[in-house]
Amino acid sequence: MQSEDFNTAFHIAERCQACLGELLLTRRKIIVTRHLPEAVEERAARDYDAILNKEDRPIAMDELLAMADGIDALLISSSDKFNAAAIARLPKSVKILSTFSVGLDHLDVPAAKAHGVRIGNTPEAVTVATAEIAMLCMLGAARRAWEGQHMVRDRKWVGLKLTELLGRRLDNKRLGIYGMGKIGQAVAQRARAFDMEIHYHNRRRLTPQEEQGATFHETLDSLLAVSDVLSINAPSTPETQGMLNAAAIAKMPRGAIVVNTARGDLVVDEDLIAALKSGQVAYAGLDVFKGEPRINEGYYDLPNTFLLPHMGSATIEARNEMGFAALDNIDAVLAGKEPPYPVV
Ligand code: 8YV
Repeated sequence: MQSEDFNTAFHIAERCQACLGELLLTRRKIIVTRHLPEAVEERAARDYDAILNKEDRPIAMDELLAMADGIDALLISSSDKFNAAAIARLPKSVKILSTFSVGLDHLDVPAAKAHGVRIGNTPEAVTVATAEIAMLCMLGAARRAWEGQHMVRDRKWVGLKLTELLGRRLDNKRLGIYGMGKIGQAVAQRARAFDMEIHYHNRRRLTPQEEQGATFHETLDSLLAVSDVLSINAPSTPETQGMLNAAAIAKMPRGAIVVNTARGDLVVDEDLIAALKSGQVAYAGLDVFKGEPRINEGYYDLPNTFLLPHMGSATIEARNEMGFAALDNIDAVLAGKEPPYPVV
C-alpha cells in the first residue's frame, strides 16, 4: 500500500470510529423494570441503551430511583409504585414513566404532572385478553370449573352422577357491567354471544352505537338489583374502591355470580366471602385481589370460587402489544412528540 493510500484509509477508519462513538454516546438510555416478552426486549435493546431485567429480579423503589440518574425513560409495570414521594425523587433526566398497563393505580398522576414527567399507558392492548378472562371467570364460576378440575386431578371422579356439579347456564341471565369502558364493552360483546341481557353502570352513558341495546343504569344500586351476574370492569379510584361491600351485595338478587377482572380493592373481601358462605352470592370468578399475591385467606377454602393469579392480559399477543405501545410512548416523548397513549 502506498503511504498516501494508507493515510486515507487511516483517516476513514478514524472517522468511522468517531461516528460510532458519537452514535453510542447519543443513544438514549432506558430502564425496563420487568422481564418482558422477547420481541419487546429486542426492540428496546435495538433502539436504546436499555437496562433490561432478564432475571425479573424485584427492584426496590430506592434502587430504581438511584439507577434512574441520567436515564431518559422508565418502562415500568404495575408493581412499580410511584407515589408522590417517589415521583418527587425522580431525576430530571427521566422524561417519561411509560407503564406496561392500562391501570394507573400504582402512579400518582397529579404528582407526575406537577413534577413535569410524562406518563403513558397501554389502554388498547389489554382489551380483548382481559375481556376473554372475564368470560373465563364467568364460566369458571357458573359451571363450577374448579370443583370439576379437582375431582379429575385428585382422582376422585368415580363416574357420572346426574345431580353432581350442577352449575348455572349463562343464557337469559342479566349481566351487570360496572365500568363500561373498552374492556366492559368487549365483555358485553362476548356475553351477547352467550345470549345474556346486558346492563351497565358507567360515569357517562354510552352512545346508542356503543350501547348495542345494553340498558344504562344511572346508579350502582339500580344495576346491582338486576345483576344475576356482576362483572367489575372499572379502574381502581377513590370513588370505586370498596364499591362491592355488604350493603351493595345485599342489593343483588340472591344467588348472584360476581366476576372481578379489574382491581381487587373494588371488592371488600370479608363481605364477599361472607356472602359466598351464606349463598347470597352463589359463585365468584376472581382474577384480581386486594394485596395480591397475598390474598384473603378466606378464599382458599371456598369451593364456590374460581380463582386466577391476575392473568387478564397474559397472552403473547396482548403482552407484545403492550410492550410495543409502551415503547411507542417512549419513542414519541424522547423525540419531542406527543405520545400515542398519553395520561399526562
Ligand atoms: C398487567 C393490568 O399485566 O394492564 C393492567 O392494568 O392489570 C395487567 O394487564 C399488569 O398491570 C402489568 O403491569
